[in-house]
Amino acid sequence: MMLLHIDASARVERSITRALSGSFVKTWLAERPSDAIVRRDVGLHPPTFVSQEWIAACFAAENERTAEQHAILALSDELIAEVESAEVIVLGTPMYNYGMPASLKAWFDQVVRIGKTFSFDLDRGDFPLEPILDGKTLVTLTSKGEFGFQPGGVREHMNHLDGHIKSIAHYLGVTESHSIHVEYQEFRDDRHRMSREKAESDTVDLAKRLAANCKQ
Ligand SMILES: Cc1cc2nc3c(=O)[nH]c(=O)nc-3n(C[C@H](O)[C@H](O)[C@H](O)COP(=O)(O)O)c2cc1C
Repeated sequence: MMLLHIDASARVERSITRALSGSFVKTWLAERPSDAIVRRDVGLHPPTFVSQEWIAACFAAENERTAEQHAILALSDELIAEVESAEVIVLGTPMYNYGMPASLKAWFDQVVRIGKTFSFDLDRGDFPLEPILDGKTLVTLTSKGEFGFQPGGVREHMNHLDGHIKSIAHYLGVTESHSIHVEYQEFRDDRHRMSREKAESDTVDLAKRLAANCKQ
């Protein structure tokens, strides 16, 4: 089985989310050494933004696309193929400006594509979009500088990261989701230390549990 490991932090050193996703993958491989890990580092190598030409290429029938249009969609094809092959997607991402990093949004925009990852049919009434893919597990590992972003927290209304990922993940065929969060990074106090320690141990436990339950 294949696990897709995505990191979105622009930081390469001292990144909390890279440490968490790395720990998840290391624990997974200790349990299931034969599994394939595909790495997609959007923090280091941000995908290009979609353009007018990209949208036109998407909506052109596949057998009518020009060579130039195929070239425009080549990165999207590659990223989608990685998602199609993955049973588990592990996503390490920071909160930037109360939402996801632009690099991660660029990745989602390249991957959520009509006719490839979702279908559109007005016969379905007010909800015309449906995912084409199915049965994927998403593990989201986030870090935030402030705190109180979880349900009932003082900044719940400012959390445009977790809900956004959850809404889009549906169109990647995600049917099982888990998320672990570090908070207080900017305070660098005991609250942060405890939040990080809990996230680190929860990440290892989750990786062990999912790997043990993995049937393929
Ligand atoms: C450009 C930028 C924007 C940020 N915006 C927010 C924010 O809106 N809210 C917040 O709580 N933390 C914010 N932070 C703090 C990060 O979420 C925090 O440092 C986190 O640990 C980054 O993840 P990393 O350690 O994996 O790089 C921001 C950090 C950066 C660099």
